[in-house]
Amino acid sequence: MEFQNQAAVITGGASGLGLSAARILCERGAHVIVADINEAQGTEAVAELRETGGRADFVQVNVGDETSVQEMAAKVQELAGRLDVLINNAGITRDGMVHKLTKEKWDQVININLTGVYLCTQAAIPLMLANGYGRIISTSSVVGLYGNVGQTNYAATKAGVIGLTKTWAKELGHKGITVNAVAPGFIRTPMLDAVPEKILEMMREKVPVKRLGEAEDIARAYVFLASQYSSYINGAVLSVDGGLVL
Ligand code: CAA
Repeated sequence: MEFQNQAAVITGGASGLGLSAARILCERGAHVIVADINEAQGTEAVAELRETGGRADFVQVNVGDETSVQEMAAKVQELAGRLDVLINNAGITRDGMVHKLTKEKWDQVININLTGVYLCTQAAIPLMLANGYGRIISTSSVVGLYGNVGQTNYAATKAGVIGLTKTWAKELGHKGITVNAVAPGFIRTPMLDAVPEKILEMMREKVPVKRLGEAEDIARAYVFLASQYSSYINGAVLSVDGGLVL
């Protein structure tokens, strides 16, 4: 129960990687706030977490909207009275080759994956400063490190998350807040539904461990970086991709 008396916000916590992390953090005693735009999925996720004895609440948020994010922070204060862990996990893809990519798809991905991380972190900091303690974990990607065909917008945001992480690690370390990123490879979540099967097969072949990742593979990395066992890790980008180099 290493997260007893701690509160954790997981954006995009209603499904995929976020829900998997919510399950582990709940099991280990955290009060988990599932922050997601999808109310139906979020409510269902919280019901499941509570059924297994966890402390969990749902807060609806659009991470790309400043007012919505500020409202989320106020609700976290009301529900938990503190914030120890923020997992900036919400993210979307709108893939397309650069010569066909629309400005609309560029803007959508920048707004959720990059502006969303900035807004949520900014809103979380005062709550963490109140206790002089915090763990901020953001989701980058193997694509942010190496690029990927058809992912101009997504790669830009995931590389951007690395820049944010290293900057905030320098700004916040002396205040008891560590900031790290996880860079997942190709993980079996609903995000892969839009990827053609031939590309998935190619990725499976390229990964030295010869399989796609599972949500738990990433969730365990989030939880490690959220835990006391990572207190001297700050500004790191932890690749969890089976050894894939695109
Ligand atoms: N590597 C090498 N070549 C690739 C490629 C890849 N990953 N993806 C596409 N290509 C090639 C195609 O084979 C094709 O080649 P030819 O012109 O020689 O036939 C060319 O690029 C154009 O591809 P399409 O015919 O598929 O073009 P399209 O305009 O119909 O679709 C696309 C483009 C939407 C980008 C589509 O190829 C696609 O969905 N690709 C997958 C993108 C992807 O990998 N997304 C990852 C999502 S998961 C994620 O993002 C999570 C994470 O963090 C990893």
